Amino acid sequence: MFVLLMASAIYVVDISLKADQEPPKQDIASDEYISSISTEEGVFKRSEYGLEYGTMSNEDRRSLEEYYKNRAFPGAPPIIPHKLLSEQGIGGKACLQCHENGGFVDQFNAFAPVTPHPELINCKQCHVPSKVKNQFSQTNWKKFAHPDIHQSALPGSPPVIPHSLQLRENCLACHAGPAAPQEILVSHPERINCRQCHVPGNSELTIEWDSTSQWTKSKIEWASKQ
Ligand code: HEC
Ligand code: HEC
Ligand code: HEC
Ligand code: HEC
Repeated sequence: MFVLLMASAIYVVDISLKADQEPPKQDIASDEYISSISTEEGVFKRSEYGLEYGTMSNEDRRSLEEYYKNRAFPGAPPIIPHKLLSEQGIGGKACLQCHENGGFVDQFNAFAPVTPHPELINCKQCHVPSKVKNQFSQTNWKKFAHPDIHQSALPGSPPVIPHSLQLRENCLACHAGPAAPQEILVSHPERINCRQCHVPGNSELTIEWDSTSQWTKSKIEWASKQ
């Protein structure tokens, strides 16, 4: 009986020791575990440049006003404001040599804005040069306003993303680097996961401050946009 008990005890101890040495079932470093949510993948597209962007100088940037000038309405593809090196072709590499990573272009005396969508290689499907000023007859088309910036719930809290995320998943393409407009330049390009703190704003925020007792009487109204 004693021998039998000893043998089974040794067997159990042996099994549990071996089990300890087995690799864990879930490998936390595997791609499967750390892959991002597919709709948020674009956020990480340029994060490898985050630290570099943080050290760039802030002078001589274009303003949001200049940025809006090339666009017919918020979210519209900007016209190509410069001469084309060749009238032929769909775009692709010919455009990406300057627009994939940006950089200063002597010929146009400006920094090339980085494209948020290098994978859409048929550039001229959406971007065209503007060749004439008045080709069409007048219409009643009015450019509608671009959304306001600085919409934060409290001073110091992350402003909401005032724009839609369609074609705007790649945050650093527009918010960092030398071609980013001054007003929307991000002070923390190295934080990588932008959407961890910034949420899309689908409401209109009005804050009425009560100067006598700051927070308690401040009225924060969220009026849903239709
Ligand atoms: C030699 C480099 C170079 C090439 C090649 C080039 N671009 Fe540009 N692109 C620039 C620069 C520099 C600017 C900024 C011009 C400015 O601010 O005056 C610019 C501006 C633009 C803009 C306006 C972006 C904005 O934010 O307003 C668009 C759109 C554009 N280019 C599209 C294209 C397309 C499409 C092609 C290919 C057919 C192309 N570019 C080829 C250098 C280049
Ligand atoms: C399917 C249409 C489409 C195609 C194809 C396309 N673009 Fe765009 N592009 C857009 C739209 C729309 C915007 C404006 C995005 C916005 O403001 O939300 C834009 C914005 C840009 C900008 C300005 C980024 C900024 O700072 O705001 C550049 C530069 C640009 N595109 C370059 C290119 C290049 C180069 C190609 C080809 C490799 C290309 N695009 C292909 C639709 C397109
Ligand atoms: C095509 C260029 C483009 C891309 C890509 C883009 N943005 Fe923007 N962003 C803008 C512009 C332009 C504004 C100014 C408001 C407007 O006109 O939409 C803005 C405004 C903002 C603001 C408000 C800033 C303030 O001071 O209140 C935040 C926050 C923001 N964006 C976050 C993001 C995040 C996060 C992403 C990535 C998921 C992103 N943006 C992608 C162009 C872009
Ligand atoms: C850890 C939270 C956090 C992350 C991650 C984050 N932000 Fe912010 N962001 C903030 C806060 C807080 C502010 C407001 C700063 C202030 O008012 O001083 C802000 C402000 C901004 C502004 C307004 C201009 C400025 O810098 O003050 C922009 C644009 C912006 N963020 C874009 C981005 C982008 C693009 C990313 C991704 C690279 C990002 N943020 C990642 C918290 C964050």
